[in-house]
Amino acid sequence: MHHFIYKDDDLYCEDLLVSSIAEQVGTPFYLYSHATITRHFRVFEGAFNSLEHLTCFSVKSNSNIAILKTLALEGAGADIVSGGELFRALRAGISASKIIFSGVGKTRDEIEFALKSDILMFNAESDQELQTLNSIAGNFGCKAPVAIRINPDVETNTHPYIATGLSENKFGIPLQHSLRSYALAKELENIEVKGISCHIGSQLTDINPFVEALQKLKWLSQELEMMGMNIRYLNLGGGLGITYNDETPPHPSEYAVALQKTLEGTNVILILEPGRVIIGNAGILVTQVLYTKSSMNKRFIIVDAAMNDLIRPALYNSFHAVQPTKKNHSDMVKADLVGPVCESGDFFARDRYMPPLKVGDLVALMSSGAYGFSMASNYNSRPRPPEVLVKGKRYSIIRARETFEDLVRGEVIPEFL
Ligand code: LLP
Repeated sequence: MHHFIYKDDDLYCEDLLVSSIAEQVGTPFYLYSHATITRHFRVFEGAFNSLEHLTCFSVKSNSNIAILKTLALEGAGADIVSGGELFRALRAGISASKIIFSGVGKTRDEIEFALKSDILMFNAESDQELQTLNSIAGNFGCKAPVAIRINPDVETNTHPYIATGLSENKFGIPLQHSLRSYALAKELENIEVKGISCHIGSQLTDINPFVEALQKLKWLSQELEMMGMNIRYLNLGGGLGITYNDETPPHPSEYAVALQKTLEGTNVILILEPGRVIIGNAGILVTQVLYTKSSMNKRFIIVDAAMNDLIRPALYNSFHAVQPTKKNHSDMVKADLVGPVCESGDFFARDRYMPPLKVGDLVALMSSGAYGFSMASNYNSRPRPPEVLVKGKRYSIIRARETFEDLVRGEVIPEFL
């Protein structure tokens, strides 16, 4: 459920007309609904009510500090994968004691920053990383709190670029080697073993792989207890899918019930790292039609947003519904919705039936709240769009549109030229 709805024929975000915001901020722009974000978070949290758990919002899905602040106020922690994300999470007021640091390639600087900040734990992804964590923590005279990320080798039905839990993927340590890695962690003086983690993939619409992965974590935790290690936390990562088109992902409450069943008989704290399920359908990208044209057998609608603003269709062939801000009751026509970037991959929809759009019309690319702005770039030297947050009747520009000066900031023409 989200708060982008038509009243009569006009698209609203909560109590505001999307087209009026467009008039004031210009296009393209990202638009988020506060009520949708908090609703999604509360539904997710509520589902896990009876289980000791911690929900760490996955910052990579949307890292705007106003969004992070919204979630911090709801009690969220953060799943981060870089020093930059740690900086953002702290700036937004997320408590360090609820921050988890994942990723296969943490640098020494990033580890130092996280240790100094006193985060909850690192998800270590290799034996070498354990050694590095141990040596840096030793220099600091502290212990690095660690979960080892396991690659549980479970099959998921998602785009290959966002499946992470198969043995062929770069993530984690194979389950078969994990006992050896935990034995190493136990020996290392400046490592404190706290848990086990995994993340098997993203946009998953089936519960079974999650259950299978959690069963493997549970089995491992019991083995480790027998080796004298105290496993307080099991971290199942993120990955719960959303409806972009006709997907029917499980409701968070079904997901929670299945996980709770799997955990019966244990005494652990479950960590979850949802991103998309919280923010995906809480944001849209609003763009304006610049031109239309037809070739022999195609109709093109050219809009002012492009693949640099929202790369998901180009990268994963992903689906985003196209909805005009003013409903049009004419017959649908088949068209390609494309951007101005000089690549044929710069499309938002191909051979899609959509309302007949004309120059000047505004359209929303739905479900763009997750991995939308956070994956935007300046390709083709296009300033990145602003981000706007609506709460009821109010809105705020939570990130300004970039300027041409922003584009060249930090660039230098050397004297020797
Ligand atoms: N935890 C870890 C360790 C992750 O790697 C990810 C996502 C998450 C949590 C959050 O997953 P979510 O709940 O959002 O599915 N750019 C792609 C998605 C990449 C996901 C990477 N990892 C997309 O646009 O679909």
